[in-house]
Amino acid sequence: MAGRHFLQIPGPTNVPDRVLRAMDFPTMDHRGPAFGEVGLKALDGMRSIFRTEGQVVIYPASGTGAWEAALVNTLSPGDKVLMYETGHFAMLWKVLAERLGLRPEFIESDWRYGVDANALEQHLRADTGGEIKAVCVVHNETSTGCASRIDDVRKAIDAAGHDALLMVDTISSLASIDYRHDEWGVDVTVAGSQKGLMLPPGLSFNAISDKALAASKTAGLSRSYWSWDEMAGPNQTGYFPYTPATNLLYGLVEAIDMLHEEGLENVFARHQRHGKAARRAVEAWGLEVFCTNPNHYSGSLTAVLMPEGHSADAFRRITLEHFDMSLGNGLSKIADRVFRIGHLGDYNDLMLSATLSGVEMGLELSGVPYQRGGVQAALDFLTARDQVSVAAE
Ligand SMILES: Cc1ncc(COP(=O)(O)O)c(C=O)c1O
Repeated sequence: MAGRHFLQIPGPTNVPDRVLRAMDFPTMDHRGPAFGEVGLKALDGMRSIFRTEGQVVIYPASGTGAWEAALVNTLSPGDKVLMYETGHFAMLWKVLAERLGLRPEFIESDWRYGVDANALEQHLRADTGGEIKAVCVVHNETSTGCASRIDDVRKAIDAAGHDALLMVDTISSLASIDYRHDEWGVDVTVAGSQKGLMLPPGLSFNAISDKALAASKTAGLSRSYWSWDEMAGPNQTGYFPYTPATNLLYGLVEAIDMLHEEGLENVFARHQRHGKAARRAVEAWGLEVFCTNPNHYSGSLTAVLMPEGHSADAFRRITLEHFDMSLGNGLSKIADRVFRIGHLGDYNDLMLSATLSGVEMGLELSGVPYQRGGVQAALDFLTARDQVSVAAE
């Protein structure tokens, strides 16, 4: 099909040309004299994105690897971890914890909102013996489009007077939704390259607090490839204990520069604004945004519930066949019930307008009951006086 494919899944996201050009460079000797500078720029730059003064680790791995790294570096076999069922990815993290021999205490939910910090606080208060060693939450549930309030999670842990480590998955929120590792007292932040960071998949990250680092000295789970200790020495001069993903790191340095040129606050505002515009469209179509708690609306994606009796996957097939646009599918519990519009990463008003046009045309062709005018509602929002000034900032 002529023209560009529209990759509107909530990650991997579109890679900007600047980042592609930065990676299109001869692979260098990762132990040679020039590489240390690249490594240091990437590690320092990621500190500024996580908003931490602490240690950051970069793995040549997908996000799942960084989940595993967070757990194996800090915990011991049989440790209890408190987890919250925000959606598909929270469930996967729980399964991973079980496989490692941890004991997750899982707070169940219907997936239509983010973490209920009060429920978390009650569970922590009930843990009078201090058995829970870590609280693990997903910041932005990519399967549902619900973004939890990590500041409230921190407050809940403090209110309960609990000493558990706080671990947060920011795989689909870092560099798109406001996040502050140090200020919110997060002990391990988990992230991946393929979403807000605008890179291809292949890098993942841990940001580590001093408390987590101290825990890693006595934690009993086995680790080798994921060991923070192994990384710490070589990382001091920008090197790695094993072969790093050199060309992805060139891209990472460029992406971090781009994010700072725009300004992180502006990046977050841009994503929030696109989230709002997408929701205007969904409302005007007469469809339901899957997330039911407005405090948890996500700036990086919008999941849309299909009317009863209509297949989200059939609709997605039509948008792909007719308009060459990939939308995100519903995962596990909500397979075929929702489709997800990714509006994160290297993204602007016209890309959003085109995406929503593809959705509206797809609804028409697939015979889903809807009302026309969603695209117009989004355009009206984007061109409202106050919104135009937000975009220009
Ligand atoms: C919130 C969240 N956590 C974890 C993962 C798993 O990451 P990966 O597929 O990079 O291993 C994803 C992937 O989309 C995700 O969105």
